[in-house]
This record gives sequence, structure tokens and C-alpha cells, in this order.
Amino acid sequence: MHRLGTSSRPDWQLAVVIGAGGLGTAVARRLGQRHRVLVVDIDHERAVSVARGLCEEGGDAEAAECDVTRPESVDALAREVAARGGFRVLAHVAGLSPVAGGFEHILQVNLTGPALVTRALLPLAGQGSAAILIASLAAHTYRAVPAVESLLGDPAHPHTASRLAAAVAPEDRTGATAYHISKYGLLSLCRREAQAWGQRGARIVSLSPGLIATPMGAAEFSNSPVKRELYARTPLAREGTMLEIADLVEFLASDRASFISGTDVLADGGLYGTLRSG
Ligand SMILES: NC(=O)c1ccc[n+]([C@@H]2O[C@H](COP(=O)([O-])OP(=O)(O)OC[C@H]3O[C@@H](n4cnc5c(N)ncnc54)[C@H](O)[C@@H]3O)[C@@H](O)[C@H]2O)c1
Repeated sequence: MHRLGTSSRPDWQLAVVIGAGGLGTAVARRLGQRHRVLVVDIDHERAVSVARGLCEEGGDAEAAECDVTRPESVDALAREVAARGGFRVLAHVAGLSPVAGGFEHILQVNLTGPALVTRALLPLAGQGSAAILIASLAAHTYRAVPAVESLLGDPAHPHTASRLAAAVAPEDRTGATAYHISKYGLLSLCRREAQAWGQRGARIVSLSPGLIATPMGAAEFSNSPVKRELYARTPLAREGTMLEIADLVEFLASDRASFISGTDVLADGGLYGTLRSG
């Protein structure tokens, strides 16, 4: 029911945005133009602040705390979503950059987390619902060895990250390798889960940004010569913006993308094509 003196929109469907960082905020703001938004983060204050900002602009937003790596926390989130009548859009944006954690932690947040969240929220998806998982160009440049590939079939398993650590050579147990594997695993997850989502009339898609101007991205430039080289080779000769990615999330979540599922959309200014052609 509408509440007087507020911008509540009970007539709008719910968008669940996981991650209240730079890109998550841009996505929440964009989806908030046509959806009620539940802003979710492990950092509750950050989620509250983003939700408050949306409400101040005339949106209908609330905040929830969730650690996507903990099944009981994700189940609590699913109960919150169920209490709001299910969801139309799930945007899983939260993720750690290659320099933001150790090997296992990055895999837990970037891969096990989205696997737990999509598994818990699938029963709440309805006809026309869509899940968009933010992956990365890194997923496309990674080549998985068979030992790694065989562990990516059940990323929600609590031991996936530790088993992957055992499967790679000690010198490869770095944040960068974990980041590549995690995003590669997200693309596999979308391909595999499209069947289950399709049975509910719902879609699941990954979105792989190239270099995007975010506070997280800027922090990486300072200590990554590889990233500076990638920047130099991007055909459009600039970083993408958070607005461009939010636009794409909005499109993928909408009925205009109603036949796109189980696949990845790459938004990298042409960089992957350049890398492939040498
Ligand atoms: N910036 C780029 O160039 C670029 C490129 C490709 C992909 N990406 C992807 O974009 C996504 C997010 O970017 P961003 O700029 O919003 O990052 P950010 O660092 O600003 O925000 C990440 C958010 O995730 C939250 N988080 C961390 N661990 C969590 C957990 N266990 N449970 C719930 N929330 C958790 C953090 O509190 C933070 O608010 C990531 O998935 C990243 O891999 C970024």
C-alpha cells in the first residue's frame, strides 16, 4: 500500500542489487527509475546510505545486510525477498578486485557468493524475472586447465575455493588467478543454470565489463602494469563508464532482452577482439 509522504511504489516490481559499491550504486540508481530496489551489501551502512540516496531522489529503496559467502546469510536474504513478493531483477554486482583479497577469499566472494545467491533466489523468480551477474573481460582471457574446469560444476559447494587452491600450482595461488577463475566460473554458471531459470520463465545472463572507470578500477591502475597495457590497447581509447554498464544491465533486465539467456555480454570497448587478433 502507498504510504503518504513517501515515494513508496508498491505497484513496481522488486530489483535486488547485491553490492553497494561504485558500480552497484550506478546500477541501483538506474533500476530504481522503474523498480522498487533492495540494496544489499555485507557493509550495512553502505547499503543504507545508497538506499537513502535513492529515496531522496524519489525512488523506493530499502537496504539489507548480507554476506554472500555465508549460506545462512543468503537464506535470510531470500526470506527478505520472499516477504516482498519475489523479484523481477537480480543484479549481482558485488565482487572483489584481484588486489582486494587472497586466492580463496576472492573465489568465495566472486563465485561461491553468486552461486549461493542465484540458488537461493531462483524459487522466488517469476515469469519475466532476470538475473544479471557482473563478470569481467578476465573471464574471456582465462584458459582453464582440466583440474580447474572439473571443480567449477558446483561453485556453491563450501569447499570449492579450497579445492581450487589445491588444483592450481603454488605460484598461481594469487589474487589475479583467483579473479580470472571466479569470473570464468560465472560464465559457466549462467550457461548451466539457464535451463532451471527457463523453467520458471526467467533468464540468467552474465555481463563482462572491460576496463571501467570506478574507484575500484582506479585503485588497480596504480599497481598493475598489465592493466595499464590493456588500457593502451583498448580500441575506443578510454575506460567505459559506470553509466554505460548500468544502461546495459537495465537493457538485459528488461523485456527488450527477453530471448537472451545462458550467455555472456561483453562490454569492453573492443579490447578482447584486439587481444585475440594479436
Ligand atoms: N572496475 C572495473 O574496471 C571492473 C571491470 C570488470 C568487472 N568489474 C566488476 O564490477 C563489480 C563491482 O565493482 P564495484 O566498482 O562496484 O566494486 P566496489 O569495490 O566499489 O564494491 C564492491 C562491493 O561489494 C561488497 N562486498 C564485498 N564482499 C561482499 C560479500 N561477501 N557479500 C556482500 N557484499 C560484499 C563491498 O562491501 C562493496 O560495497 C565486481 O564484480 C568487479 O569484478 C569491475
